[in-house]
This record gives sequence, structure tokens and C-alpha cells, in this order.
Amino acid sequence: METNRGSEGILSEGMSEKREEIVELLKTAYFMELETVMSYVTNSVNPDGVRAQEVKESVEEDIQEELTHAQQFAARIKELYGVVPGSLEFSAEQAYLQPPEEQTDIVHVIRGVIQAETGAIEHYTRIIEETDGVDPVTQDMVIAILRDEQGHRRLFEGFLRECEVSGIS
Ligand SMILES: [Fe+2]
Ligand SMILES: [Fe+2]
Repeated sequence: METNRGSEGILSEGMSEKREEIVELLKTAYFMELETVMSYVTNSVNPDGVRAQEVKESVEEDIQEELTHAQQFAARIKELYGVVPGSLEFSAEQAYLQPPEEQTDIVHVIRGVIQAETGAIEHYTRIIEETDGVDPVTQDMVIAILRDEQGHRRLFEGFLRECEVSGIS
């Protein structure tokens, strides 16, 4: 039995320390996604005005995608023998996605989304680096998720550009 453990890659007994390290990174990612779900629900409802409609719809579309990401991170934590954390372990960090003073301030929302997506891009890039050569399955999953986040950010960068061009940012 013992002799075969080394051939199990990241699930090998000798890899337990690295596995725990990856699980910690995945827990952070899991909570980041759930906070994003919360923030996007908020910001898909609050904004007022003609300009806000397109942004609200895009934010709303992303909610399901971010929720799916959270579920993917949770499943991977379990597969790596970790325990998905409970809500009491959660602490909020997205100060920049709180409701603005004026609900017509759509630029505030656009900038907030860009910041949330940038945070995800940075953290997931780190997971891809940390899993390189040791956990290709996690790496593969996170690469696909990273692409979604890059797409989200690019869309909102376009919204921001439009606001800049029309002088409302
Ligand atoms: Fe996400
Ligand atoms: Fe995203």
C-alpha cells in the first residue's frame, strides 16, 4: 500500500503539506466568489437611470457564473480532503462594492466590479502558479475560471470607457 502512495500526485501522503496550502488558497477563492455573488445581487438591483440598465443586466448575468465558481471551489476543497468553511469563517472585504450615495452613480458600480474582478484575477493567477507541476487538476479548473473573470473585467472596462468618452466618469 504505502509504496504506491507517491504515484498519486497531489493526493499522495507525502504531499499533505502542499495539499493543505492549496486548500487554504481555495477557501479564500470560495469566499471571494460568495462575496461577489452578494455584491452583484446588490448591484443588479440598486442602480437607477437609463445608463444603469445595461450594467445591471450584465451584473445580474454574472451572478450565476460566480455562484458556479464558488461551487467548483467548494467541490475541489472536498476532493483535496479539505473541509468547506462555514459562514462564520467569512469576513467581508469588498468595501468598494458598497452602495454609492446616489443610486444613479453607475460609474461607482462599474469601478467596483472591475476591482472585484481584478482581485479574483490576481488570486487565481497565484493559485495557477502554486499548483504548477503539482496539481494539474486544480490548475486546469482555475485556468478556466480565470478566463471567465478576464472576460467579466473586459466587459466592464468597456462600460467604463464609454462613461469616460461621454464625460460622466
Ligand atoms: Fe468568479
Ligand atoms: Fe467574475
